[in-house]
Amino acid sequence: MYRSVIRGAGSYLPEKIVTNDDLSAFLDTSDAWIQQRTGIHSRRIAEDDEYTSHLGIAAAREALENGGISAGEIDLIVVATSTPDNTFPATAVHVQGALGIKQGMAFDVQAVCSGFVYALTVADQFLRTGQSKKALVIGAETFSRILDWTDRTTCVLFGDGAGAVVLEGQASNGNPQERGVISNRLRSDGIHWDKLYVDGGPSTTKTVGHLRMRGRDVFRHAVELASEVIDGVMEDGGITIDDVDWFVPHQANKRIIDATAKKLGLADEKIIVTVQGHANTSAASIPLALAEGVNDGRIKKGDLVLLEALGGGFTWGASLIRW
Ligand code: ACO
Repeated sequence: MYRSVIRGAGSYLPEKIVTNDDLSAFLDTSDAWIQQRTGIHSRRIAEDDEYTSHLGIAAAREALENGGISAGEIDLIVVATSTPDNTFPATAVHVQGALGIKQGMAFDVQAVCSGFVYALTVADQFLRTGQSKKALVIGAETFSRILDWTDRTTCVLFGDGAGAVVLEGQASNGNPQERGVISNRLRSDGIHWDKLYVDGGPSTTKTVGHLRMRGRDVFRHAVELASEVIDGVMEDGGITIDDVDWFVPHQANKRIIDATAKKLGLADEKIIVTVQGHANTSAASIPLALAEGVNDGRIKKGDLVLLEALGGGFTWGASLIRW
């Protein structure tokens, strides 16, 4: 068997910064309300001609460069997104084409805010068996396109961006001290679909639709469900929470992150938090946070990194990685 070793991480954020004060100019909200409830002070918003694939391509290029890998070596691209450029083809094939990659396969995974953990797990399965050798896993979103900008209960929470990692399958004897993805757990429960969804789509309204959310219900489930998969990956990896060097959760809301960390007994110093400047970028939030942690020198080779996310569906999942 092989293990999926992370060779590089990269990210891209649109240039345009929109602060809470900018939102309060046209919305009945305030910087104080948003910061107190979510920890968010600003978010990036893509220009009209800046598509999800453009963000993903920029993040992928940085990840390849940081990993010292050329695009021509990649034989698998998995893009996690709920805001694709087109209903079809997959955003992943736009990325593949732009990077000039002629071999292998490219497809999208749709698991909303858990999308990156889902995409990473899917790529890991291909690399573990040797079916693919080198993979790009990308989370890229332009959630600004599906927000109802008159609904203060949702539009203040989200932003645009992309993050990516490059993985390489390397021979492994399964020891958790070896570098690479150690374990993954994915879950979903469709009973919760109407707590967080988009009220449009090709086969229903023939429109893109807008994001709708019952925020309190999401909050109530987020911590409990996250803990379930986190316990699962640690059990699978034979690891305890004290062994974890970095917790990189989905960046939806600082209060959810704090409550999850408290339940796990994780110190603040071990958590990578980017929600203050990125807001919730859905599938992009974890790879954006990973890239920040790696590129500023906090996450180092050999560190044990725990990823966790919950999103619409509900979907949820966790991954444990020896960086
Ligand atoms: N500005 C000012 N007031 C607001 C705003 C706003 N942007 N939004 C809502 N309010 C008002 C409401 O209208 C309500 O007013 P009322 O009492 O007069 O009716 C009041 O604030 C309280 O509203 P609640 O919805 O009860 O506020 P709550 O304290 O639950 O906070 C929040 C809302 C931040 C959405 C919270 O429920 C939450 O964090 N939920 C988690 C959802 C989340 O993060 N989702 C992201 C996607 S899911 C994921 O990625 C995991």
